[in-house]
Amino acid sequence: MAKKDIKWGELGFGYVKTDYRFVSKFKDGKWDDGVITEDSEIVLNECACVFQYAQTCFEGLKAYETEDGHIVCFRPDLNAERMAETARRLRMPVFPEEKFIEAVEKVVSANADFVPPYGSGATLYLRPFMFGSDSIIGVKPANEYEFRIFGTPVGPYFKGGVKPLTVRISDLDRAAPRGTGNIKAGLNYAMSLYNIVDAHECGFDENVYLDPGTRTKIEETGGANIIFITKDGKLVTPKSDSILPSITRRSLMVVAEKYLGMEVEQREVYLDEIADFAECGLCGTAAVISPVGKINDHGKEICFPSGMSDMGPVTKKLYDTLTGIQMGRLEAPEGWIHVIK
Ligand code: PLP
Ligand code: COI
Repeated sequence: MAKKDIKWGELGFGYVKTDYRFVSKFKDGKWDDGVITEDSEIVLNECACVFQYAQTCFEGLKAYETEDGHIVCFRPDLNAERMAETARRLRMPVFPEEKFIEAVEKVVSANADFVPPYGSGATLYLRPFMFGSDSIIGVKPANEYEFRIFGTPVGPYFKGGVKPLTVRISDLDRAAPRGTGNIKAGLNYAMSLYNIVDAHECGFDENVYLDPGTRTKIEETGGANIIFITKDGKLVTPKSDSILPSITRRSLMVVAEKYLGMEVEQREVYLDEIADFAECGLCGTAAVISPVGKINDHGKEICFPSGMSDMGPVTKKLYDTLTGIQMGRLEAPEGWIHVIK
């Protein structure tokens, strides 16, 4: 089928309604088979658990057109696994991991003409999500749920594409110690909305959250993990129980070590050491790798030597290698690329 008439190169990170989505319902203790539907609307009772107690979670992954014309997804098994972890923590029924992957395949195949052409700079972002759908007024989990996946073609997450970002150290915390920071619950994003609007109003692209226990260590941003490059070319990334285990970051750690021969360290990263790093980047499905040029710590500017005009040289190598794997230009490690068409 012919691709949709969309100006792929001009897409930002927004919702564009595609033709088909997947819906499966959980009732009486089991999931139904699920269907592909054209209906993008959801009608729920006013007392549905998702509205009252925010019992909702989601995932994010992308479908890519490769250099040789296939349509592929990147490590969807890890999204399925993370959503299962999230569901368990929120007392939601797990959507079976193999059915998650089948649903991804169905949504992507049905919307193949929305998968942006190779080289356009855009991708088809997939949003699996799940919520408690029956009426609950006492504080407890729902009995009924919906699992859905829709797709939307997207361009860069941050305005300005790959231009280095300016981020600030946040005064508010993202996650409590022993809280829900390590799962992809909607509530983690609800609490970040005040702060992201404030950051934008103050001229910053994102908030960098510190560890909530001591506020001395770097955790992550509202929508991406953080990587640093040392002056001698090592990749350093924060270790913490309250950050989301980013699939992009875990993949980059392998890319750095196995493809680029770099040393990789996952450890506690203190706020007072970040001025010593040579490069910094935000990584995630939406963010890919977005370089950070400057971190503002309450008026004190930490400017990375990589500057404000281009990605640092090591970040660029990581970016080129990761996207090369995703777009089929480079051979992928076993199991990373899930061919759909
Ligand atoms: N951290 C947060 C808070 C996120 O929302 C995301 C996005 O999914 C990430 C990190 C990056 O994770 P991934 O690379 O799995 O997309
Ligand atoms: C993703 O990268 O998939 C996310 O869910 C991040 C979100 C801020 C868009």
